[in-house]
Amino acid sequence: MEYKAYTSFDPDFLWGAATASFQVEGAVEEDGKGLSVIDVMPKNPAITDFSVAVDHYHHIEEDVALMAELGLKVYRFSIAWTRIFPNGNGEVNQAGVDFYNRLIDALIKHQIEPLVTIYHFDYPQSLVEQYGGWISRESIEDYRAYAEFLFKTYGDRVKYWLTINEQDHVVRIPSRLGLTGEDHYEQLRLGYQANHHMCVATALTIKTFHELGMEGKIGPAVSYSMVHPASSHPDDILASKDAMLIKHNYLMDLHCYGEYSYSFQRYLEERNFTPAIEEGDLELMKQYPPTMLGVNYYFSEAVRAFPATEEFPIGYQKKSLLPEAEAGVFEVVKNENLAATDWGWEIDPVGLRLTLRELYDRYKLPMIITENGIGAYDKLEEGDMIRDDYRISYLREHIKQVKLAINDGVPMLGYCAWSFMDLVSGRNGMEKRYGFVYINREDFDFKDMRRIKKDSFHWYQKVIASNGEDL
Ligand code: BG6
Repeated sequence: MEYKAYTSFDPDFLWGAATASFQVEGAVEEDGKGLSVIDVMPKNPAITDFSVAVDHYHHIEEDVALMAELGLKVYRFSIAWTRIFPNGNGEVNQAGVDFYNRLIDALIKHQIEPLVTIYHFDYPQSLVEQYGGWISRESIEDYRAYAEFLFKTYGDRVKYWLTINEQDHVVRIPSRLGLTGEDHYEQLRLGYQANHHMCVATALTIKTFHELGMEGKIGPAVSYSMVHPASSHPDDILASKDAMLIKHNYLMDLHCYGEYSYSFQRYLEERNFTPAIEEGDLELMKQYPPTMLGVNYYFSEAVRAFPATEEFPIGYQKKSLLPEAEAGVFEVVKNENLAATDWGWEIDPVGLRLTLRELYDRYKLPMIITENGIGAYDKLEEGDMIRDDYRISYLREHIKQVKLAINDGVPMLGYCAWSFMDLVSGRNGMEKRYGFVYINREDFDFKDMRRIKKDSFHWYQKVIASNGEDL
């Protein structure tokens, strides 16, 4: 829709950038930190692991000074559960608590609002060993108790909280659940059980948040993006609706309405994936929904129908981290209308406006973009220059669409680019860079870890200073 007149961003719009603990901190065995599932997962010899990352642990003052120079109004970061509770439960590690106190205090000193992710993929390995981790119901109380500790410790300064980052990814990536050895279908079945426990844990945590009289807002950071039909053929349109359900809406319906939608129940039943649900679980979720949503958005997908055959029977899934093809449901295909990143992620700024509209239509919650950005092979040139015009163009086009979504009537609290500084990419090591700040290290050469401002840093500085007018 076009309009005769357009409004600007609110004066208190939170311009920000994000990171996650395991991708930036390093120091994985320092100052009493316990091991997480990320620390023990099998190493890929072709790329770096996360043990040193970009050494943010030893650079917080310098890094926060750069955030202030950039003009950030909000900084999204995650707390490493195993710095606070090395075993996931039990003894508190004071050195870990102090580290985040220092970080939060430094942010506040520079008038940067902290936006805290309680848990971003780095689940305590000890909980996997104690009782199997998220696949066991015992996990619920440990997560809640950890969150309660954070509320009581940092809640005097932190007003915005994200419960679990990209739960849909966690439940489908076996190493992030600490699973080993099970076959693909058993992993999926366990994943849906873990998913249920995470939803109950989220609701209980939101209950605790209210009971403690915490100010501010809380909700999950969800990976949510449009799945377009590859054509106007009704079968493809149905496939896109089903893909939206299986990839995204099943989880949002649980978080926001405490329900397994009728169609998702059928999907689970047919595959023997229905989790054990205890009395009161769904009621609890209904009673304690999120008060905001964090939205991670990078790309959209296009799908066509994928009729089951003898060769590919109903339920057959291409074994991949995320659902890309499932016989009898959908298959992801190339969208000829869109360009893609070097990693094949299709760039779709309008898809972001559609995503925000879809989420607000369905769930009516205020939102903040918690991740949006482009991974690229940045090149450090003479004179410490990084000419990342492709990043500027990606971010500019997406921010324009956030503004249009606001004009459509969607309440947006803010926008966090991914990422503040280069970090170790979830699956591609150091070669896939996202930051406004370049970190001078390679996969297997730590160099000097120098922080260098990219062209996009100077551009975003102006965007923030002009409250989104100077794009
Ligand atoms: C999101 C995660 O899935 O995508 C981040 O929350 C991650 O942790 C980001 O870095 C980009 O993915 P990748 O694999 O390119 O690092």
